[in-house]
Amino acid sequence: MDQKIQIIGLRGIPLVKPGDDIAKIILEALKNDNLTLENGDIIVIAQSIISKSIGRIKDLKEIKPSEEAYHLYEKMEPLCKDFELPIKSPELIQAILDESREILKAEHVMIVETKQGFVCANAGIDKSNVEGESNITFLPENSDFEAIKIHNTFYGQTGSHVGVIISDSFGRAFRVGAVGVAIGVAGINPILDKRGSLDLYGKELKTTIVGQIDNLASAAQLIMGESNEGIPVVLIRGYKFDFVKSSNINQILRKKESDLFRLENKKDEFLGLLKSRRSYKLKFSEKKIEKKVIMQCIEIARWAPSAHNGQFWRYILLEKDKLRYELIENMNNKLKEDLTRDGKSEQEIKEKVSKTKKNFIKSPYLILLCLDKNDLYHFNDLERDQNEYIMGIQSISASATYLQLAFEALGLASCWYCAPLFTKEIITDTLNLPSSYVPMAFFTVGYPLQEVKAPKRRPLNEIIYKN
Ligand SMILES: Cc1cc2nc3c(=O)[nH]c(=O)nc-3n(C[C@H](O)[C@H](O)[C@H](O)COP(=O)(O)O)c2cc1C
Repeated sequence: MDQKIQIIGLRGIPLVKPGDDIAKIILEALKNDNLTLENGDIIVIAQSIISKSIGRIKDLKEIKPSEEAYHLYEKMEPLCKDFELPIKSPELIQAILDESREILKAEHVMIVETKQGFVCANAGIDKSNVEGESNITFLPENSDFEAIKIHNTFYGQTGSHVGVIISDSFGRAFRVGAVGVAIGVAGINPILDKRGSLDLYGKELKTTIVGQIDNLASAAQLIMGESNEGIPVVLIRGYKFDFVKSSNINQILRKKESDLFRLENKKDEFLGLLKSRRSYKLKFSEKKIEKKVIMQCIEIARWAPSAHNGQFWRYILLEKDKLRYELIENMNNKLKEDLTRDGKSEQEIKEKVSKTKKNFIKSPYLILLCLDKNDLYHFNDLERDQNEYIMGIQSISASATYLQLAFEALGLASCWYCAPLFTKEIITDTLNLPSSYVPMAFFTVGYPLQEVKAPKRRPLNEIIYKN
């Protein structure tokens, strides 16, 4: 077997514009270098020129960041500063969100699964090697399709079967430094399955699968470089491979179900979230919460367990409006009466009332949780009836916990307040609620301005009873 592989960078590839025919440009560059394509050659093409040729470019100024993008920006900005990395603008974050199926990490860098299925930083969006201050390039929507088109043109023009690889450079978990990887392929199998062949000592290989197109993309990267080398196309000659009619980049993408790290990440993240939720009793940020975010959390709260699957919870969203103000005023009148009856001083009453006002009137959203008695089971037996009522309360509490955890997951902070229990009638009257609704709790919700320290938890041996 010939052990020599040639890696040849093509000179004279011009700056690519939308609409350019990349296959034609490559054939011309080969001709200028006195080269002709041969059967078994491999052409590796930098994604940037493919993206430009098919118009996958956008001006960041045209992007309107969503609430989520602003929120991620606020979270990531200090982390980027800590790591001395460029700060991503809300517009760039929005572009990354738009290109992604799932955000795996958003810290000093965003690691996402792109819509094409690649797990990489920043959805492969590039600000470098593109003209204009605020232009960015996106990965092609279907790089296999682009590779096949180019392969077919090569075959049509030269009669040679050539492997085509579209490459990008990705950073890696566990190791520093970006390397070339394939994101689209035609004519060559993405992987080389060595299972069943023998090693040096005659032992059968049981697990070896070589990522051959990534190796080739990485070899080409040595010549392409990352900065101003200007060699976006590389010819690899002498690498032996079996030509295949159909190949697909998905063959090299590890399935989520067999990706141990992603599963671990998810579990750790979830357990971490259960612990990081705090009751937030401080001033909220002025940032407006979109109603759809609140609705998203209530949708999650529906999935809590409930006795007989009764789902007795009813949520009432109180916007920052006149009705909310009137409700808190009415509740405070009752509070004043109660505290006066308790013999509290005028000063104490004033302080308590003003604290309640501050909490409930200033909260960006206020949510009232009620128990709907209509859905409870009833028996001709007082004790059983009481137990059903308790089960109703237990069930709505589970839903409220889900709600608070959903807020936490979306970066919102909340606090559970029991005040409605003491002013049930006033609430049902002021809000004109159905008579079966029993007001149980308020939840203040907003974006936090500060971290809250976790109050102490009892040690496990105190809460697990042993005889
Ligand atoms: C049923 C219930 C009622 C609560 N009522 C109030 C309240 O009226 N005022 C308040 O400041 N916090 C209230 N809280 C919040 C607790 O003070 C808080 O959950 C507790 O101190 C533990 O803190 P953490 O939630 O940050 O872990 C309530 C919590 C629950 C579960």
